[in-house]
Amino acid sequence: MRIPILLFWAIIALSANDTVHKFAKSEDCKACHSSIYDEFYGSMHANSTPQKDPIHNAVWRDHPQNKKAERYGCGKCHTPGADDLDKMLTKGKKALPDQQNETHQAGISCAYCHRIESIELHSTPSNTNIIAKEEKKYFATLKEHVDSPYHAIETEGNAHMQNGNVCIGCHSHKRNKWGLNVCSTNIDNEMDGTNCVSCHMPKVDGSVSEFKDTKVHAFHGFAGSHSNSEMLEKYVDLLVQKSDKDFTVTIDNHTTHALLLHPLRLAVLKVSVTRDGKTIQLKDEEFARVIGKDGKPAMPWVADTTLKDTMIQANEKRDVKYDYVIEKGDSVEVILGYYLVNPQVIKSLKLQDEKIATDFHEFKKQLFTF
Ligand code: HEC
Ligand code: HEC
Ligand code: HEC
Ligand code: HEC
Ligand code: HEC
Repeated sequence: MRIPILLFWAIIALSANDTVHKFAKSEDCKACHSSIYDEFYGSMHANSTPQKDPIHNAVWRDHPQNKKAERYGCGKCHTPGADDLDKMLTKGKKALPDQQNETHQAGISCAYCHRIESIELHSTPSNTNIIAKEEKKYFATLKEHVDSPYHAIETEGNAHMQNGNVCIGCHSHKRNKWGLNVCSTNIDNEMDGTNCVSCHMPKVDGSVSEFKDTKVHAFHGFAGSHSNSEMLEKYVDLLVQKSDKDFTVTIDNHTTHALLLHPLRLAVLKVSVTRDGKTIQLKDEEFARVIGKDGKPAMPWVADTTLKDTMIQANEKRDVKYDYVIEKGDSVEVILGYYLVNPQVIKSLKLQDEKIATDFHEFKKQLFTF
């Protein structure tokens, strides 16, 4: 669908002026919520800035807004607690991400997320989070809790904290000025009783606070493609079936969104067969969503179309056939993994020395014997 150009700018103007709010520092939470703080500290939410995330930095470095030293529009989601967020989101203003500014380096802080009151839906460019006015009152989901000496706890109107709607202000979709949806979770949030929170913030051992001994708390490391992906392994099944002429590997994705979401990613299926102590590596199968313009891959702000999409989709069962006859006694090793940055663009993004970008991450590995 094409959006008429006037309407397009009207929508931008409506959603571009997020107000600035003051947020408590995440370090303030550490003394009373130490397990949650430690998990959060290592998560991509705490490290979402160009100074802390080399992959984000590499893309931002080439962005026209950075080249012209203008404003950091990415701040809407990557530094939403910035004390100059209004400038970051207003055309013609100057506001760049600053290493020395604590409100920038806080990333997506504890207090920011716990003050999201509701989500304003916009098809272009993205949704907007509405932040509660009161500085130290946090939305909470536990049915029973003791009082906190540091902050008030808001237990009314908080369904969004549990059903995952709290995440869709930033994660639902992001359309560029050509109307292309660059990165999208593209789902009905709740399906089969799972949602963003139940899958990415499962209950793990350790107390909610130092004040009351609860056995478990919601995991705040946000399991994902950078870290703790083993917590998500159970949502994808691997299967090998042989016939007389060949065999098939099935990837059964029980996830309510595509296996990987960001267009930089490349997923790879690696399969090898071992017979009489000798291992043969078969051809790798690759899955990616490639965006571009004029038939060639392009950066997210240039691309106006999806050139190719072989990524495993939400709830998809994908069969991959191998022209190879399995014999009794053979064992087949199947590895499903990914590169955070497609090796084809590593050099152009100058990321060849960043391990996190160049490593192959094993997501799930399974051995099948016949
Ligand atoms: C509407 C919210 C939103 C805006 C605006 C936004 N991003 Fe993001 N960005 C996200 C989310 C959510 C993710 C995580 C997606 C994922 O992992 O699949 C992300 C991830 C990324 C990543 C991958 C980082 C990594 O470590 O692998 C890059 C690169 C990136 N964004 C660049 C940018 C740039 C550059 C801008 C500004 C020009 C920007 N983003 C603006 C929401 C946004
Ligand atoms: C002085 C101690 C203290 C500090 C500092 C503190 N909290 Fe708390 N917080 C508590 C206590 C106590 C509870 C209730 C825990 C319970 O009942 O198990 C609580 C509960 C919460 C809850 C609600 C849990 C629920 O569902 O009922 C949230 C959310 C929360 N804190 C967020 C934060 C954030 C964000 C910060 C930092 C900006 C912070 N807290 C700093 C003591 C503190
Ligand atoms: C204020 C915007 C914002 C909100 C709200 C938000 N996220 Fe994110 N999230 C991001 C951005 C930006 C990134 C990418 C950071 C980067 O890689 O630099 C991200 C990354 C992630 C990742 C990827 C982690 C990894 O290892 O790659 C997961 C998983 C995630 N978020 C889950 C959630 C969940 C679940 C919620 C709701 C409880 C949520 N997010 C709410 C902005 C947000
Ligand atoms: C990206 C959003 C996001 C960020 C950032 C975040 N939280 Fe949470 N937090 C949630 C959600 C959603 C829940 C509800 C989980 C549930 O109901 O299972 C939650 C639950 C909690 C609880 C209740 C514990 C429980 O087991 O339900 C506390 C306490 C808390 N958060 C404190 C913090 C602190 C402290 C930080 C920073 C160190 C933080 N949160 C950062 C989204 C966030
Ligand atoms: C049924 C469980 C499930 C649900 C529901 C779910 N996810 Fe995921 N998510 C996964 C799995 C599995 C992966 C892929 C493995 C990985 O990245 O480690 C993933 C990956 C991600 C990533 C990283 C993608 C990338 O390209 O780096 C983000 C961001 C994310 N999910 C956010 C969300 C958000 C936001 C929601 C809710 C709108 C959500 N997820 C709902 C299971 C789930």
